Amino acid sequence: MKQNIIIVDFGSQVTKLIARRIRDFGVFSQIIPFNRIEKKLFTETTLGIILSGGPKSVTTRDAPKIPNFIYDLEIPILGICYGLQLICKDFGGKVSFSKFREFGKTKIKIKKFSLLTDNIYLKNEKYNVWMSHSDKVENLPKNFQIVASSKDCNASIIQNVKRKIYGVQFHPEVVHTFKGDQLLKNFIFKICNCKKLWNMSNFKNEIIEQIRIKVQNDKVLCGLSGGVDSTVTAVLVNHALGKKLQCVFVDTGLMRKNEAEEIKKLFEEHFDIPLKIIKSSKIFFQKLKGVRNPEGKRKIIGKLFVKIFENYSNKNSNFKFLAQGTLYPDVIESSSQVGKGSVTIKSHHNVGGLPKRFNFKLLEPLRELFKDEVRDLGKKLKIPKNFLERHPFPGPGLAVRILGEVNAENVRILQEADDIFINLIKTHGLYKKIWQAFCVLLPNKTVGVMGDDRTYEKICVIRAVTSVDGMTAEAYKFSHEFLEICSNEIINKVAGINRVCYDLTSKPPGTIEFE
Ligand code: XMP
Repeated sequence: MKQNIIIVDFGSQVTKLIARRIRDFGVFSQIIPFNRIEKKLFTETTLGIILSGGPKSVTTRDAPKIPNFIYDLEIPILGICYGLQLICKDFGGKVSFSKFREFGKTKIKIKKFSLLTDNIYLKNEKYNVWMSHSDKVENLPKNFQIVASSKDCNASIIQNVKRKIYGVQFHPEVVHTFKGDQLLKNFIFKICNCKKLWNMSNFKNEIIEQIRIKVQNDKVLCGLSGGVDSTVTAVLVNHALGKKLQCVFVDTGLMRKNEAEEIKKLFEEHFDIPLKIIKSSKIFFQKLKGVRNPEGKRKIIGKLFVKIFENYSNKNSNFKFLAQGTLYPDVIESSSQVGKGSVTIKSHHNVGGLPKRFNFKLLEPLRELFKDEVRDLGKKLKIPKNFLERHPFPGPGLAVRILGEVNAENVRILQEADDIFINLIKTHGLYKKIWQAFCVLLPNKTVGVMGDDRTYEKICVIRAVTSVDGMTAEAYKFSHEFLEICSNEIINKVAGINRVCYDLTSKPPGTIEFE
């Protein structure tokens, strides 16, 4: 039997982490924005509901709400931060603004036994959790009990055991909360009684079946980018449909050095999947001329991709479907609808950057998956390991790594620098330790001296981050010696760069890509 947990999203930037953690436990979870909640989403397979955090205050008039029927479904509920406050308000308690904001690591003291904290937190002991709130519960609703409190907040954990409704004021989904994972596990397994039924082999078989049902006898065009996601998509769709699939690689001129040749080789030598390469760099450079705005670039690139696919489809055998390697974080980060109040960070070209109308139906079989789950699926599809380990590469390519105008000369400079940096990382045995590494070209010039000459050239930023799923990231800690080698090699070998900087920004507050 299928089982799932529904996470109602109120716009917290860490809601994705909750979904991620629960899937790691072997239970399928889905995020639904609070304003898209409908009765039919909750079936007998829904064993638990989580109400996420969010940026709004429940005390304001436009505070996000959920329909009351949710509380009458008799499905266990866990409210996190905003979710806890909403539960309190909806059951007649009082939530008000507190001058004592709690932000970051905070100690809570356990006062009462709860299934939620069973075997994790002991009574009368104190534990570190991660808080992020200014409102707090003033009066608890009837039939609710306090399980834990902090110095400034009485209701750090609450429960109504009879109705199986629980709330935590802190974020168990972030690593800074002591045994936060265990707390979520208690909710999922001890309170919701879920079983570990979600795994990649089941998913693979299910999704192949779904693709067949959706596509029937039509034809599918798959846009390959050279990255892991679109390759896994292509191989998956090929498993489902065989010759009804045609793959297309649009050579935008914005790829890494030698990328087009490498992809061709991989597809021809390793997979028996037809691949058409469409050389299109001229039109991409033309349309990007003078465009400096990141979202502008993304939208232009998205439109061009679709136009090229449409032209190809019209000239050939009219494909009804366009398959894309859209992932779950792409869907969430591109959608300003997910939890009113959560802002669009970037329009990923294969989601938010698509024009409103086009002649294809979309086939996005990885829409529910996170990056590491896609790699897992790739393994099940027998895609070579070294290919699956490739660092992610964004759909809009080097366009979002050249700050300012994208032109052929800037692309050439960046490709050369990037190639040197990645090869150094590989030869020093660091490639697998890093989630993603790349160079970025800054448009500003700086003064330097080479030999006896003054130089006035561009700046190259090198970026390398560690991450589990691309949603949070930290700068990789290279040795100074290695950084010096990179700097020297790039400046000595790449005409057009005379200064190299290393970016130490984590995500958040930065994003992985610069644009
Ligand atoms: P950010 O920059 O949002 O990136 O922290 C998170 C991950 O997503 C990749 N990325 C993209 N992938 N189309 C994609 O397919 C895009 O438009 C896009 N933008 C960013 C990025 O490289 C990182 O792995």
